[in-house]
Amino acid sequence: MKVIQVVGARPNFMKLAPLHRAMSTTPIEQKVIHTGQHYDAFMSDIFFEQLQIPRPEYHLGIGSGTHSVQTAKMMIELEVIFNQERPDWVIVFGDVNSTLAAALVCAKNGIKICHVEAGLRSYDRTMPEEINRIVTDQLSDLLLTPSIDGNQNLEKEGINPEKVILVGNIMIDSLFWSLQWIEKNPNTIKPALDLLNQYQLEPQNFILVTLHRPSNVDDPIKLNKIIEALGEISYQKPVLFPVHPRTKKILETLSFNNYPNLHFETPLGYMDFLYLQKNSLALVTDSGGIQEETTALGIPCLTLRENTERPITITHGTNQLIGNDFDKLKYELKEIIEGRGKKGRIPELWDGNTAKRICDIFMKML
Ligand code: UD1
Repeated sequence: MKVIQVVGARPNFMKLAPLHRAMSTTPIEQKVIHTGQHYDAFMSDIFFEQLQIPRPEYHLGIGSGTHSVQTAKMMIELEVIFNQERPDWVIVFGDVNSTLAAALVCAKNGIKICHVEAGLRSYDRTMPEEINRIVTDQLSDLLLTPSIDGNQNLEKEGINPEKVILVGNIMIDSLFWSLQWIEKNPNTIKPALDLLNQYQLEPQNFILVTLHRPSNVDDPIKLNKIIEALGEISYQKPVLFPVHPRTKKILETLSFNNYPNLHFETPLGYMDFLYLQKNSLALVTDSGGIQEETTALGIPCLTLRENTERPITITHGTNQLIGNDFDKLKYELKEIIEGRGKKGRIPELWDGNTAKRICDIFMKML
């Protein structure tokens, strides 16, 4: 059996790593295509290095563009490779444009698609990722969900439940594997340790921030308000904010007060960021993956979004939706600082063995 795994953007790489590692112990032939949606060293290369993913067989170098241009360019290149390679299955991950592009090409060329992280829904079609999720799931032949809400969403959309399997959350495989690696190889996270030193950040005594959703960062007025709220908070607890390239572009056009304890940084490697997460008091974010990682780590997470496609992080985990309500953000952070942060538990099958369960499914098909 020949399988091609397609990745392109930062949140894909930690989902590929455990599956690639597990599949390499089976007779399945696997190849990786990196579309090049993300291309900066800190958005891409460092993930391959730290997670020890072999160099992809194909790198398409697509780069940035409007969503249509980016997706269309990927489709043109992917079609050529799929027709040369004729894989039995193409595996796609998550909800980025690379996921959608690969799914569309497969569907049009009669190649079977397996979607890892299927079934998540924010029910907000203004999010580009929601469109990518809905279309990819409609086209997929095997839909592997991280949590039971995924199965329920797919059933509501009329997808045959025989194609849907709850396998658990593959991100958590990478999380547990990496924490063990860091413990044995602390040199891996030297940049994170240097940052803690540089800003004199004590464990469990600083707030870590990430923001990159268009709905938060593309509007300069809104981004300014967020920065001012974070600035105020930084007088109570230092704030560390590694800035995504999309956010950086807008941030550079703003003029706001200088807050001595609000520290902007370049994006970090995967393991460096995990280590900082594990050692932070709380996260403020609009990322999807971080809502899950904080739930697995038991760290409170305040999400600057009106909705989430990962509701289990709210019902079971440490996540809370803050929307645009900066008074609520400040109130919840005060609660956390005073020791009343949200507690949670780890959802079913977020146990570090999801990649193995996926491999078992493919082995049964051999
Ligand atoms: C993409 C995903 C999003 C994911 C995020 C994680 C889609 C629709 N969105 O959003 O789901 O959460 O990645 O990071 O696929 N840029 C660089 N260097 C890079 C990559 C991007 O400078 O390596 C800049 C470019 O100027 C680009 C902008 O960032 O225009 C946005 O990049 P893009 O890939 O379009 O979307 P993201 O916002 O990163």
